[in-house]
Amino acid sequence: MTGFNTKLVFGKGLNNLHDNDTGAVNVPIYQSTTYAFKDIDGDNKYDYSRSLNPTREYLETQIAALEDAKYGYAFASGSAAIHAVFTIFRPGDHIVVSKNIYGGTFRLINDYLKQLGIEFTQVDTQNLAEVEAAIKPNTKAIYFETIDNPFMKVTSVKAVSEIAKRHNVLTIIDNTFLTPYLQKALNLGADIVIHSATKYLGGHSDVIAGLVVTNNDEVGEQIYFSQNAVGGILAPEDCILVIRGIKTLSVRLDRHIQNAQKVLEYLDTKGSDIEKIYYPGRAGNASDEVAKKELNGYGGVITFQLKDHVDAKKFVNSCQLIWLAVSLGSVESLIELPYFMTHAELPVEERQKVGITPQLVRLSVGLEDPEDLIADLEQAFVKAEK
Ligand SMILES: Cc1ncc(COP(=O)(O)O)c(C=O)c1O
Repeated sequence: MTGFNTKLVFGKGLNNLHDNDTGAVNVPIYQSTTYAFKDIDGDNKYDYSRSLNPTREYLETQIAALEDAKYGYAFASGSAAIHAVFTIFRPGDHIVVSKNIYGGTFRLINDYLKQLGIEFTQVDTQNLAEVEAAIKPNTKAIYFETIDNPFMKVTSVKAVSEIAKRHNVLTIIDNTFLTPYLQKALNLGADIVIHSATKYLGGHSDVIAGLVVTNNDEVGEQIYFSQNAVGGILAPEDCILVIRGIKTLSVRLDRHIQNAQKVLEYLDTKGSDIEKIYYPGRAGNASDEVAKKELNGYGGVITFQLKDHVDAKKFVNSCQLIWLAVSLGSVESLIELPYFMTHAELPVEERQKVGITPQLVRLSVGLEDPEDLIADLEQAFVKAEK
């Protein structure tokens, strides 16, 4: 009965409006590591903050409510959240994973999880036949990002999770680029959804955080075990920053999308300098149909390939309003060259294989006036002509 926007603003407060005796409208930062037992034999919900902290519990309950999930967990980073999800697997397990994943996840898989004896096969998750063919008797999960990075192609959560269910394996999604405002992946069939809340959910470039949700009781228990045993929890001060960011998620994303449209219209006029623009709905293939059917909006990240006569380094160095920085999904616009920055963790051959060239630019469109962003890009183009 409660609308999505109301859930953004009220979170857990919907069931428990007054968190404490003061009537404070915001959940307090419970800066306490330990909690007094009322009675040695009593049932104490809170005993130690690694296990449960009321501020973190608020955020975890809220992300679960936003994703239509039973369980939510908050971690110290998106990477810690991804690691916690992988701890549910054991040596000898096999996971089918998308070819185009965040560089840090690629590093975690190749330089750490493979050494623990977990096997991986990388596939193009937009190619459903390739996904199904990669499943082996020891396969336990399929892992991908709905919108891949940096080429913004969309994988069908519905189709991949149907394959996964047929083979009795889990579907795990990193939905950082979309958030539950633009896609509720559990409702489309996913079993586990991960977010780097550092991006749109936090939204202000002031907190590193990760979230995980699931409806699966056993998986929920395993992730809680990992959270408590490994201890990669999100601190209460950081929980508050994510909670505050979430309150304006839909308003911000609506504006990110509007601004991205204006910037796209401008980039479309730059055909003499731009080889190709990558944004959901523009792939000219099945990815567009999936985007239309499964996403409620395409977000604020645009990737484009500069023609050879444009000096890509000079182009990004020349931006004055738009920050030259990694990350995305924040109020300020950020520009970067994936080859040298976000995807530098990928070996050169990997970058070449997937088409990440030194001429590729990724722009996270922020909330500034779009005319100012366009003027900034225009003057950068003028300076970057070779
Ligand atoms: C899609 C995606 N997943 C996960 C991460 C890792 O998140 P964090 O930086 O919060 O550890 C990132 C970071 O850029 C990302 O873009």
